[in-house]
Amino acid sequence: MGPEEADQLVQKYFKRKGLPLMPAVTFDDVLVREGISSIASRSDITNLKAQLAKDFWLNIPVVSANMDTVTDSRMAIALARLGGMGFIHQFVSLEDRLEEVSKVKRADNMVIENPATIRPEATWAEAQAVMAEREISCLLVTDAQGILAGILTSRDTQFCSDPNALVGDLMTPKTRDGHFVLQTARPDISNEDAEKMLKRSKVEKLPLIDDEGKVVGLITAKDILKRRMFPNAARDEKGQLLVGATLRFSGNYLEEAKALIDAGADVLLLDTARASSSSEDGILASQYLTPGKIVELAAERTAKIKYVFPKIVLVVGNTANPEAVALLASRGADCVKIGIGPGAGCKTQEVAGIGSPQLHAIAQCAAVAREIGVCLMADGGIRNGGCMVKALVGGANVVMLGSLLAGTDKSPGLLVWNRKENKLVKKYRGSASTEHQLDRIKVGDLHAVRTSEGEAGAVPYMGTTVSLIDDLLGGLRSGMSYVGAHNLEELWQFGRFVWRTQAGIEEGRPRI
Ligand code: XMP
Repeated sequence: MGPEEADQLVQKYFKRKGLPLMPAVTFDDVLVREGISSIASRSDITNLKAQLAKDFWLNIPVVSANMDTVTDSRMAIALARLGGMGFIHQFVSLEDRLEEVSKVKRADNMVIENPATIRPEATWAEAQAVMAEREISCLLVTDAQGILAGILTSRDTQFCSDPNALVGDLMTPKTRDGHFVLQTARPDISNEDAEKMLKRSKVEKLPLIDDEGKVVGLITAKDILKRRMFPNAARDEKGQLLVGATLRFSGNYLEEAKALIDAGADVLLLDTARASSSSEDGILASQYLTPGKIVELAAERTAKIKYVFPKIVLVVGNTANPEAVALLASRGADCVKIGIGPGAGCKTQEVAGIGSPQLHAIAQCAAVAREIGVCLMADGGIRNGGCMVKALVGGANVVMLGSLLAGTDKSPGLLVWNRKENKLVKKYRGSASTEHQLDRIKVGDLHAVRTSEGEAGAVPYMGTTVSLIDDLLGGLRSGMSYVGAHNLEELWQFGRFVWRTQAGIEEGRPRI
C-alpha cells in the first residue's frame, strides 16, 4: 500500500471516529461519546472476547508486556487464567524461555498427556529426585512395557524414612489379591464422568489406561478444580493456558521460533523498536531462505518466519506507521503491535525525537488494519480503564500493559518499601534503559551500551494482578454500557470521540 492510499484511508477513518488529523491527539485529549444504550447494567456485559489474530481469540483484550519486570511464567499463568495472555520476555537464554513457556503450559490441564512415571524397582530417593525435578507430588508406577503397576503419592510415603526403600513396596498397587485397588479410566472418558469418578472414590488422581493397561494420561482433581475456579481462562484445545513468547531480534530467530513452538508457545512475538524496517520490496519469501542474500529487517524476517512456520500466530512490532502495518500484514504478520514511545519507561520520543501520540498512532494504523483485515495490539501508555476503552474505540483489538502490571503481585521482583515516599513499590525498567542494557551485556545478549531510550525506576504497588484486571474490566464494561456495545466489535463500531481542551481535562479530573 502506498502513502497516498494509506492517507486517504486515514482521513476517512479519522472523520468517522471524530478525531482531528492535526494536532495528533492521545488518550487524555479525547473522551468517548455516550450513545443511546439499551444496556441496563454493566454487569449485563459478559462478552469481552478479543481477536488477537484471524482465528485466535482471548477472553479479555489484555496481554502483558514482554519485559523482564513484567512477564515471566507467574504473570503469564495469572493473566491467562483471567482470560488474557502473557508474553514471556526475550531477555533470558532460550533455555530459560523454553522452561517458562512449558511452566505455563503445564500449569493447568484437562488431561496430563505424558504423566511422570517411575519403575517399581526404583528407590524412594530416586522417586524424590524425579518429583523435585518435575515439581510434582505424585508418580505413576509402570513396568518396562509402560503398563500401570500402581501409584506413588504423599499418602504412600509420608512415614517413609528409608531412601533405599523400593517404589514397588511403597506404592498403592493397581490390584491387590486379584482385586482392583486403583481407580482408572479409559482415555476417552468425558470431563464430567472423570469428575464423578474422582468424587465417588474420594481420590485425587485418575490414571487413564488403554486396552493393554498402558498409561496414556492422567486426570487430577486439582486440574478439575482449577477449571472451575477460572471459568474465563484463555485455554488451548487441550485445556492448557495460552502463552506468548518473544523472539530476540538479534538472535537466531528461526531456531528460537522452532524451539518455542515445540515447547508449546501459542503465539510468537517478533519484537524490534523498528518494525517498519524493510530491506527490499517484492521479494518472494522463499528467497529469504538463502543466507546472506539480502539484509534481513523486520518485514523480511516476518515473511521468513511465516514461510517456515505458516501455522503459528505471529505478532510483529513496534510501529506507529500505517504503511508499515500494510507491509507487515502483506508479509504474513497476524497482528501488528503499535506504539513508538508512549510507554511509562520510554525515552525514545525525548532522545530520538521520533514517535507518535498513542491514540493517533492506533487510529492511523487501524484505518489501514481494519481495511486489510489484520489485528492490532496497542502497546504502551495505558494508565487506567479509560485509556483502554479509548484504545479499543480507536481501533486496537487488544492492549499490552507494562507498568500497570509491573506494580502487581505476579510480576517478577520483590516488593520494596520506599521510605522517602512512604509507600510500597516494585521495580520497573525500560528494556532500552542503560541499567537493562548493562544486564544484557552480562549475559552476552548485547555487546555495547547504546544511547539510553528507556528509564529504570519503580512503580507503586497496585495489589494483586487479579484485582487490577478486575478493576480495568469494570471500567471497560462501564464504557461499553455508555456506548451501548454488547461486545468489543460493537464498541469499535459505535464508539466516536470528542476532543477536549485543557480546561475540559481539568474538569474531568476528580478534585476532592
Ligand atoms: P507501559 O506504558 O504499559 O508501556 O508501561 C509498556 C511498553 O513500553 C515499551 N518499552 C519501551 N519503549 N524504551 C522505549 O522507548 C524502552 O526502554 C522501553 N521498554 C519498554 C514496550 O513496548 C512495552 O510493551
